[in-house]
Amino acid sequence: MNVPEIPAYHPDTLAVRAGIERTPFGEHGDAMYLTSSFVFENAAQAAARFSGAEEGYVYARFSNPTVTAMQTRLAALEGGEACVATASGMSAIMSLAMATLQAGDHVVASNGLFGATQQLFGGILSRFGIETSFVPATDLDAWRDALTPRTRLFFTETPSNPLTEVVDIGGVAAIARAAGVLFAVDNCFCSPALQRPLDLGADVVVHSATKYLVGQGRVLGGAVVGSKAVTDEVLKFLRTAGPTLSPFNAWVILKGLETLRIRMEAQSASALALARWLETQPGVARVHYPGLASHPQHALAMRQQKTGGAILSFEVEGGREAAWRVVDSSRLISITANLGDTKSTITHPATTTHGRISAEARATAGIVEGLLRVAVGLEDVEDLKEDLARGLARG
Ligand SMILES: Cc1ncc(COP(=O)(O)O)c(C=O)c1O
Repeated sequence: MNVPEIPAYHPDTLAVRAGIERTPFGEHGDAMYLTSSFVFENAAQAAARFSGAEEGYVYARFSNPTVTAMQTRLAALEGGEACVATASGMSAIMSLAMATLQAGDHVVASNGLFGATQQLFGGILSRFGIETSFVPATDLDAWRDALTPRTRLFFTETPSNPLTEVVDIGGVAAIARAAGVLFAVDNCFCSPALQRPLDLGADVVVHSATKYLVGQGRVLGGAVVGSKAVTDEVLKFLRTAGPTLSPFNAWVILKGLETLRIRMEAQSASALALARWLETQPGVARVHYPGLASHPQHALAMRQQKTGGAILSFEVEGGREAAWRVVDSSRLISITANLGDTKSTITHPATTTHGRISAEARATAGIVEGLLRVAVGLEDVEDLKEDLARGLARG
C-alpha cells in the first residue's frame, strides 16, 4: 500500500516529510510498527481485507505501515507512481524478474552489472527458461541488435559497478519503448539525489537500499519503483514468495533518506577530488570516474547525473599483487564489500564482488586484476589520499 496524495513539494522537503502518517498519539518522529499482523474488528472485515475489497493492513509479509512510509517516500523521490520495498537489492531485482517474466522470455542486460545480478540473469533465471543476452552497455546499437521477438526486459545499471560506465538512459529507453519492452535501471550508484531514471524514460527503477538510501551501512533493503501496473505485479509476487523488507529496516532507511542529498553531494565532491589526485599518482594506470573529463562518457554523465557520484575505481600497475598491496596498506579505508556508507570502503572486485562470475565474463566486463574500487565516504579527503598513497608508494 502506498499512502496517496503527496503534495508537490520539492525533493528536499519530500525526503524528510513524505510518507508520514501520524498515529493518534501525535508523535513527531516516525513511528515504527514492529508487528507481523493486524487485528480485524470481525470476521467480515478480515475477509474484506484479505480479498482486497477493503483497504488496510493484513500481514507484514506484504503490508506494514512503516514499510509503506518508506515506499511512499522513495516513490516521491524517484518521481514514480508506486514503490514496493524488498528485503535486499537482489530480492528487488529477483522480484521484478519473477513479476514480469516467464519461461521462454528473453532479457537484454548490460555486461557490466553487479556480480550477483549477472548470476541471477545469466545463471539462475536461465534454469527456468529465461535467457539473457549481455551487451556492452554504452553501445546503443548493441541493445537494438540484441532484441528478439521474445525480449521482455532491458536491464542496466548506471554508472556500472565497478567501472562506472555510464549508460544513456534516454537512448536505451527509446529503443525499449519502440520495441514494447520494459526498461529497468538499477539506480543504486546515484540514488534519486543525483539521477532520476524515470524522468529520463526508464519504466522501472530498482534499488539496493543497503547502499546510499540507508547511507550508513546499517541494514539491508531493496525497492522496485515504477508504475502501479508494474509494482502491483511485484507486490503479488512478494505477497506469495515473501522477500519482504522488515519494518525495522524500513524505518532505518526512512531516516537515511532524510540526509540522502547532502551526503551524496559531500561524498561526490570528495570522490572528484580523490579521482583527480589519483590521476596524478605514479603506479596508477587508469582512473574510472564519471566526473573526470577523461571518462569516456563524461559529457553524458554530466547531462543525466547531478555529479559524478561517490564511487570511483582505478587500475594499478602490477596486477593483483599491487592491488592487494594497496588494500592491505590501508589503515583508514575499510576493507569491505559494501558501498554507499559514510565510511569509505575499498574492494578488489576481481576476487570479491565479481569473484564468482566466470573469468571470461570478468574479462568482457573489463574487471582486471589490478582494479580497485573505492566508495568515498565523509572522511576528510586528505586522510583518504594519505591512506591510499601508502599502498601506492610500496609498489
Ligand atoms: C549496483 C548494485 N545493485 C544491487 C546490489 C545488491 O544489493 P543487496 O546487497 O542489497 O542485495 C548491489 C550490491 O552491492 C549493487 O552494488
